[in-house]
Amino acid sequence: MKKNNILISPSILAADFSKLGQEIIDVDKAGADWIHLDIMDGHFVPNLTIGPDVVSSLRQYTKKLFDVHLMTMPANNWLEPFAKAGADIITIHIEAETDIKESLKIIKDLGLKTGISIKPSTPETVLEKYLDLCDLVLVMTVNPGFGGQKFMNTQLEKIRNIKNMQNKTGLSFDIEVDGGINKDTSKACIEAGANVLVAGNAIFSEDANNYTNLINLLRGPN
Ligand code: DX5
Ligand code: ZN
Repeated sequence: MKKNNILISPSILAADFSKLGQEIIDVDKAGADWIHLDIMDGHFVPNLTIGPDVVSSLRQYTKKLFDVHLMTMPANNWLEPFAKAGADIITIHIEAETDIKESLKIIKDLGLKTGISIKPSTPETVLEKYLDLCDLVLVMTVNPGFGGQKFMNTQLEKIRNIKNMQNKTGLSFDIEVDGGINKDTSKACIEAGANVLVAGNAIFSEDANNYTNLINLLRGPN
């Protein structure tokens, strides 16, 4: 049974890529709420990961929400392909030089949930004019591109400020954090106002038998 309303979205970037289907089955069984898919193009970020064909082939292994984190520039070319591949939510980066309102409208018109992400160096104030258009705000707590990096404590204030912006506006978007999340940093993020936690190495670097326990630890003590 769920301990609280915190959602855990394991990032398969840290999974064993030779058996991604099985890894998704294992985290699904272990109680993952969403599956986080990091899409990197070697241009917006200095790393390459997976495209829509891989996402489409993974869709059969779970009914959980596919949380697609799009780190590509341009972004718009990839919205429809990932929607067709089975994405439930697509999060675009505000730094990806796209017309944010237009991209969010495309995602919404494709029938998906909309997300906006900001890198650690981007101030949260840039989000203000888009908040009523998005279902999710993704706060990067490392520089996007690689798993296994150290959580940036400086981002906690940003999470608190976004939570305040949410309270002031009465909007109900999810506040997701991504990068360096473990059982200690997850607690700080939850206290700051986050309700969705992405975790790669904190889950997949251990044996699959431990996934349930690790996911529960991230949810915190409540
Ligand atoms: C980084 C990715 C993250 C990454 C998180 O650009 O967006 O989702 O996989 O990995 P950990 O939890 O290992 O920091
Ligand atoms: Zn991510």
